[in-house]
Amino acid sequence: MEWPVGAIWHSGFYCLILLLHFAYRVASNAEGDALNALKTNLADPNNVLQSWDPTLVNPCTWFHVTCNSENSVTRVDLGNANLSGQLVTQLGQLPNLQYLELYSNNLSGRIPDELGNLTALVSLDLYLNNLTGPIPVTLGKLEKLRFLRLNNNTLSGTIPMTLTKVMSLQVLDLSNNQLTGDIPVNGSFSLFTPIRLALLGAIDICSMYTY
Ligand SMILES: *[C@@H]1O[C@H](CO)[C@@H](O)[C@H](O)[C@H]1NC(C)=O
Ligand SMILES: *[C@@H]1O[C@H](CO)[C@@H](O)[C@H](O)[C@H]1NC(C)=O
Ligand SMILES: *[C@@H]1O[C@H](CO)[C@@H](O)[C@H](O)[C@H]1NC(C)=O
Ligand SMILES: *[C@@H]1O[C@H](CO)[C@@H](O)[C@H](O)[C@H]1NC(C)=O
Ligand SMILES: *[C@@H]1O[C@H](CO)[C@@H](O)[C@H](O)[C@H]1NC(C)=O
Ligand SMILES: *[C@@H]1O[C@H](CO)[C@@H](O)[C@H](O)[C@H]1NC(C)=O
Repeated sequence: MEWPVGAIWHSGFYCLILLLHFAYRVASNAEGDALNALKTNLADPNNVLQSWDPTLVNPCTWFHVTCNSENSVTRVDLGNANLSGQLVTQLGQLPNLQYLELYSNNLSGRIPDELGNLTALVSLDLYLNNLTGPIPVTLGKLEKLRFLRLNNNTLSGTIPMTLTKVMSLQVLDLSNNQLTGDIPVNGSFSLFTPIRLALLGAIDICSMYTY
């Protein structure tokens, strides 16, 4: 049986379009998948994540998510949202994320090491939660970080020396945790003017700001 040339060309063209469409969808929705992994790990009694529909082509129309002109996520704003549960390692897969605002929720568990992969990050606000475990050493890779507020959790261990390499740091608040050991004094820490610094046995409270 012979196929008309036109039909073969036509179906080939159609396949190409399908393939391109599929590749585009997969590429642009990797960030949606990462955020959806967070959603599925959280209890959300106030339904603030209701618009997070993982079948959409990208997460840019979701509430509390902001994208740049290339449809890549730059902000996640979920402070004070009454969310419970744990952070997910997939959060490290948002290469253009600048603001991760999850303060004043009921998040528990550890801060994923993968957050050190968020090299565009300017602000990491996880204060007023129930996070435990150490401050990840990997946060020292965040060369653009200006605001790091992890206060009022139950974080333990020492302050990672790697944070002294983050010369962009302007505001650091680690107060009201269960941190131990010394407060670094070199690198970025030498620029801080301590406005409050209480020592209870070992360090218990450490709150520093520039200016
Ligand atoms: C937060 O969620 C809990 C249910 O887990 C609910 O009882 C409480 O009223 C909510 N708080 C706010 C401020 O919405
Ligand atoms: C906070 O999270 C814990 C553990 O995930 C849960 O048992 C508790 O009900 C949550 N509290 C509120 C107020 O949502
Ligand atoms: C992200 O970070 C983790 C832990 O820090 C590391 O093992 C992993 O290879 C990183 N992934 C990418 C894609 O850089
Ligand atoms: C979470 O922390 C808040 C205050 O930071 C506290 O009132 C609450 O009991 C904690 N929840 C759990 C489940 O530990
Ligand atoms: C943070 O924790 C300290 C000590 O437990 C407490 O005095 C302070 O009110 C907390 N901050 C907020 C905003 O709840
Ligand atoms: C600060 O000093 C510690 C050792 O005390 C070192 O590991 C770290 O690399 C130093 N940081 C900078 C930025 O030199």
